[in-house]
Amino acid sequence: MKIACVAAAAVVVLLAACGGDDPSSGEAGDTAAADTTGDGTGTGTDAPASTSASGSATEGDTGVDAARPDWVHDLAPLMAEHCVSCHSDGGIAPFPLDDYENASLWAPAAAAQVAAGLMPPWHAVETDECAPPLPFKHDARLSADQIDLVVDWAAAGAPEGDPADAAPLPEPQDLDLADPSGTATMGSAVEVPAAGSTLDYFHCLSFDPGHTTDVYVDGLQVIPGNRGIVHHVLMFVDEQADSANWDGGVLEDCGGGSGVGSATLVGGWVPGSLPIETPDDVAIRLPVGARIIFNMHYHNASDAAQTDDGTGVALRWSTALPRYIGSFQLVGAPGAGDMVDAPFMIPAGATDHVERLRYEVPDLGVPEIRVFSMTNHMHKVGVDMKVTMTRGADETCMLQTPRWDFNWQRQYLYDAAVEELPEVLPGDVVEVRCTYDNTLANPGVAEALAEVGLDAPQDVTLGEGTLDEMCLAGVGIAVRPF
Ligand code: HEC
Repeated sequence: MKIACVAAAAVVVLLAACGGDDPSSGEAGDTAAADTTGDGTGTGTDAPASTSASGSATEGDTGVDAARPDWVHDLAPLMAEHCVSCHSDGGIAPFPLDDYENASLWAPAAAAQVAAGLMPPWHAVETDECAPPLPFKHDARLSADQIDLVVDWAAAGAPEGDPADAAPLPEPQDLDLADPSGTATMGSAVEVPAAGSTLDYFHCLSFDPGHTTDVYVDGLQVIPGNRGIVHHVLMFVDEQADSANWDGGVLEDCGGGSGVGSATLVGGWVPGSLPIETPDDVAIRLPVGARIIFNMHYHNASDAAQTDDGTGVALRWSTALPRYIGSFQLVGAPGAGDMVDAPFMIPAGATDHVERLRYEVPDLGVPEIRVFSMTNHMHKVGVDMKVTMTRGADETCMLQTPRWDFNWQRQYLYDAAVEELPEVLPGDVVEVRCTYDNTLANPGVAEALAEVGLDAPQDVTLGEGTLDEMCLAGVGIAVRPF
């Protein structure tokens, strides 16, 4: 339902984002019709031949040739590459798309989702007001040709083609951290009470990952123990081991931070997360004796108590000192920065309500700081978020997520060597702008209200709970210490 409601808006965005870069996307339908006899013979196995048949299957095809696009030649490879990492048995998506039987059932829905730019999920898009400075790694968007292929296939009734023609399929993308060096898991289980006067708990968990030598982490994947109640996880490195004396490793009700003054934010998990990987030459320090702290936001809307019996993290490290040290800086609310118009308040019934925060970068006394990734974070009233960096008259839009979906929060990594990443200088201004729709027309609002038995929008203020809001950018920074 959520997806259906935002589909119309997303189509517009998608056209802006993807339409321009493909010469065949505009008038392709007309020209392709003339190609029917040339390309519709069904002998090729490659996608490009079939894309030019776009339109032929829906009209004018008298059924003399095998209809293309078909599953065997066109859709099976496309879905293996772009859908099956999530859409397979045991994957995070609710149904598989890895065989003809399932995929053909889902063909009309798949066509609608890809045409609207909603699948594969990817929210960092270019808009009229935002052209990020670099491409992003793992950009999941389909090309206009690929979208046509899915749409045309569905329109033609999802033909299978001859299974005897099937070629080996590409490997689906691996969503787990590649080559982990080890995993570390919180030892004790945490009990989260049934829904009562509060649904949200913030507990900090601390444990020693047990390293006997200093390591530098270039990949990490937080693994939530109980996905049913883990709303998000922030991961900190506590180099001074200040959290070592917490009873059972748990500090209850520790708020949104690490629970100790000195810990460094190095990563996290939010719904939709992929592993966090730093660019070459950048790594996160994890010295001997340092503890890992998880700030856990548990959200239990069910009427039974729930247990999280082991949130953990997979780590990939080396022992070589990197040139740059990686960490994350939270900018916005609640993070570094000042409200442009205080207070933070989104009135019930407001549409297009905007909150802005500005953060002027201080002189941190290091020779070089670069931004390697951006993560936007709001809750369920948010609909659009944009982060810019301004130096004098030059404004760079770092990330915009104009069709915000709480369920798809990601770290977007710039695809460039560290020296080419945007540099941050003292005096630069980071501005975070969040737009909210606090009406029932926003499916996120309806969903959040329903959880607590309300049916009318409420005034929303800044806070940690799912029914509060935030306007927060997690900025991945690489610092050259000397
Ligand atoms: C990163 C994981 C991921 C990838 C990749 C992905 N999906 Fe999904 N898809 C999901 C999840 C999870 C859902 C369930 C709804 C949600 O959470 O948004 C979903 C839902 C859907 C739905 C049902 C939407 C609805 O509610 O009606 C369709 C159809 C779909 N996906 C098609 C595709 C197609 C086609 C591709 C490839 C072109 C694809 N997906 C790629 C994760 C993914």
